[in-house]
Amino acid sequence: MTFFLETNIYQFFGRFHAMLVHLPIGFIILAVFFELLSLKKKVDLNLAISYAFLAGALSGVFSVLLGLMLASDGGYNEATLNIHKWTGIVMTLITFLLFFIKRKQKTVLWTQKSYPVLVFVVVSLLFVAGHNGGNLTHGSDYLLEHAPNPIRTLAGMKPIRERITDLDKALVYEDVIHPIFESKCNVCHNNDKAKGDLLLTDEESILNGGKNGKVIVSGNANESELYRRVTLSPTHKEFMPTEGRTPLTNEETMLVQWWIDEGAPFDKKVVELNLTDRIKAYLRDVGIGLKKTFIESLDLKEVDDKVIASIRAEGFKIKTVSGNSTLLEVTYSSYNKEPLTANKLDVLLKAKTNIIWLDFSGVPIQEDLVSKLGQLENLVALRMSNANLTDTGVKAFESLKHLEYLNLYGNPISDASLQSLQKLKGLQKLYLWKTNVSDTGLKSLKDSLEEATIISGL
Ligand code: HEC
Repeated sequence: MTFFLETNIYQFFGRFHAMLVHLPIGFIILAVFFELLSLKKKVDLNLAISYAFLAGALSGVFSVLLGLMLASDGGYNEATLNIHKWTGIVMTLITFLLFFIKRKQKTVLWTQKSYPVLVFVVVSLLFVAGHNGGNLTHGSDYLLEHAPNPIRTLAGMKPIRERITDLDKALVYEDVIHPIFESKCNVCHNNDKAKGDLLLTDEESILNGGKNGKVIVSGNANESELYRRVTLSPTHKEFMPTEGRTPLTNEETMLVQWWIDEGAPFDKKVVELNLTDRIKAYLRDVGIGLKKTFIESLDLKEVDDKVIASIRAEGFKIKTVSGNSTLLEVTYSSYNKEPLTANKLDVLLKAKTNIIWLDFSGVPIQEDLVSKLGQLENLVALRMSNANLTDTGVKAFESLKHLEYLNLYGNPISDASLQSLQKLKGLQKLYLWKTNVSDTGLKSLKDSLEEATIISGL
């Protein structure tokens, strides 16, 4: 039977435990459900209930056997494993008892009294066994991993620290290496399941190493067991992660190597280590040091509610661009009966730093008022189609350095505006359809605004 010698037959069957355990759970819940149903509807489901318990008990026996095989592999938290094992075994025994009681309920008196108590005990054990089983499989942080911080604190867990992605501030272990271990290694190397007796969850455990000793030789990745394991051929039986889990990307591997070669520090900033351009590129790949967009880099105070209310009172629609952002979008509807006045715009300008989107489509605006819009220094998108804009008006936009989107559709503007438009180097989209800008004018504009798509209807 060389077939069996080569493989670990215990492990082969053991792995089916996690699948089979759902059967007794299902049968027991079904029995309880029938019990409640028969109470309410006054139907006799006793036979069905007794057989549901029997099926639960029998599948329970198989689950226990497979579970014991799986546990023989080791690497599980002993306390959690013991609770899980014994609740599972006791639960199975009581389920057998429930089957017998249910069959004899009408004849033997003592069983009638103990029955509801035992049902309650079995269901409670079910939760305990299930929860501990979940912890063994996924780690005890699994259930509350994405819980809000107040709930985590109540459960005695560390609050989630927001990952710093700013290159100048990011910490090399907390923000670069730890997230890699968390996502790729720690399903198997955590408190409840320390495969190879190795935990990769915190500084102390990582430095302690695994069953074969240290896994990191500070300053020398090539001598480090951890680095060796992730750089073996994926088909090698010592390759990490095992079991076909997603391996480290090339960039992640290089970052781990860099971190170890740099002395495997746990509290240094990324910038305190030797940073080459290549390492910077790898860091960008894991989200550190990406260039922020202009909007992301804006860090503004919220506009006072009273100011917002006064702007609304002038007929503007004003709201935040998303949930709890401090940035604002403003619309003045073309259905508004009152024309835009200097006074209205002055009220609007009280929120000028926070306004990033402005929509005045179809709202005629006087030439001398347009100049006020030039004060919206953080404006990113401006819609002013059919607004009777003139070339003099467009001059005011020269100061809108961050404008990315500009819609001037249907305005009587000419080549005289091109000089101003050319200065808007951040433009990505410019609508000039139905204006008096000439074809040659458009061509020269396209040459000077290389990044922008110009929509002209041609
Ligand atoms: C699917 C489970 C699983 C995942 C995921 C996993 N490992 Fe392992 N790891 C094991 C098992 C099982 C062992 C023990 C058997 C062995 O040494 O190969 C082990 C052992 C190790 C050892 C040797 C410890 C010692 O002292 O013998 C190192 C180092 C290691 N793993 C690193 C990693 C790293 C780094 C990752 C993430 C890239 C990772 N592992 C992901 C299951 C896993």
